[in-house]
Amino acid sequence: MKIFNYEKANILIVDDNPTNLKVLSDTISSLGWEILIATDGESAIEQAEYALPDLILLDVMMPGMDGFQTCTELKKKSATQDIPVIFLTALTDQFDKVLGFSTGAVDYITKPFQLDEVLVRIQVHLKLRSLTKQLEVQNQELDKRVEERTKELSITLEQLKQSQLHLVQSEKLSALGELVAGVSHEINNPLNFVIGNFEFLNSYITAFKEHFRLYHQHYPDPVIDITEHTRLIELEQMYEDIPKLMSSINTGLTRIHAISDSLRTFSRLDISRKTVFDIHEGLDSTLMILSHRLKGNELPSKIEVIKDYGNIPQIECYPEQINQVFMNIIANSIDALSEKSVDIKKMNTILISTEFNQENKSIIVTIKDNGIGMPIEIQKQIFEPFFTTKPRGKGTGLGLSISRQIIEENHNGKLRCASVLNESTQFFIEIPLK
Ligand SMILES: Nc1ncnc2c1ncn2[C@@H]1O[C@H](COP(=O)(O)OP(=O)(O)OP(=O)(O)O)[C@@H](O)[C@H]1O
Ligand SMILES: [Mg+2]
Repeated sequence: MKIFNYEKANILIVDDNPTNLKVLSDTISSLGWEILIATDGESAIEQAEYALPDLILLDVMMPGMDGFQTCTELKKKSATQDIPVIFLTALTDQFDKVLGFSTGAVDYITKPFQLDEVLVRIQVHLKLRSLTKQLEVQNQELDKRVEERTKELSITLEQLKQSQLHLVQSEKLSALGELVAGVSHEINNPLNFVIGNFEFLNSYITAFKEHFRLYHQHYPDPVIDITEHTRLIELEQMYEDIPKLMSSINTGLTRIHAISDSLRTFSRLDISRKTVFDIHEGLDSTLMILSHRLKGNELPSKIEVIKDYGNIPQIECYPEQINQVFMNIIANSIDALSEKSVDIKKMNTILISTEFNQENKSIIVTIKDNGIGMPIEIQKQIFEPFFTTKPRGKGTGLGLSISRQIIEENHNGKLRCASVLNESTQFFIEIPLK
């Protein structure tokens, strides 16, 4: 907007009396201001709309539309409402100041004119108008500055959110990692000597059995006390049960051992720089950790995990972070499967496939579930921090945004999602080899 120069103002004079018009216009134009003239209300409004004067001197008593009506009309129109209006009135008009001002006029001048007074009043109002315009310009500039600052602030806020996310992520990772590594370490030592001793125990029991067999062979008719005791402890039954017991204990120990190993692979707390890593090992240890959920206690049927592992090279990465991504995505799949309505008789599956992309020198991991799927509107938001559709207290809405950050920012890879509502959801993870 241009700053208004009140020394080069346009003034519209409205009066039905030619003598008044002449006196006023001669005086006013002698000061260098431009004059426009109208002799009645209607043409005054027309001119004002067309020429947009900087000030209007408006006679009150006119045939047809009087000054008050004219002023009221001017104030109704957006183009002319800001133009200051000064009423010209004979003292005998019983000029009602209040009425005059209430129509929106800024001042009034009484006839017969004191020309000096007229000029001074015009000058004052032009100056006021000029200042008002300047103020408007400054206001607009201020608005613009406020807008710019707001934009800067919202960028800062966004950055803050991001760094908060980073913090939460590393906090979550290290807390989980430490816990898991600690538990795995604590379990591992006693487990190792239980496994070691179990092997001895096993061979001792075999030896005992052999010894009893020999005894029985050479002394088939023991004294009555022994026969009695043999019956009491159901020795025959024991012989039968012992191998089963031993094998069951062995299965349990092997499983604890595998879990403890997986926990260690999963946390990899010892490594905080990039290192070569076997993606399949990461996937398997994640599945092991989630195995209690995959068994489907929370579901009508258990979840079938189908692995389609390709022949892929190891990659250089932060293993504990990559495992965290697998964990987030597979846990989401389990959630999506458990939200599926019971009457859908389809088998619950999670398909995990890996392949090597020769062209990009990258690994692609695809994790697909046949859970509830997502509508487009939700798909658009799932990577936003704190976006969740899960009930309060269940989801933080951070899983996928952290995962995307891990894959795309920390590993220069890509994390994408494709989903069909009520059918399936598929996540593609692409990680470059280096
Ligand atoms: N496999 C999936 N099937 C259907 N919806 C999914 C799937 N994975 C993610 N979503 C949707 O994306 C949203 C965001 O997932 P995200 O993992 O970021 O957060 P969350 O699982 O809600 O909470 P948390 O932080 O505990 O992981 C979920 O709330 C869910 O609506
Ligand atoms: Mg999640």
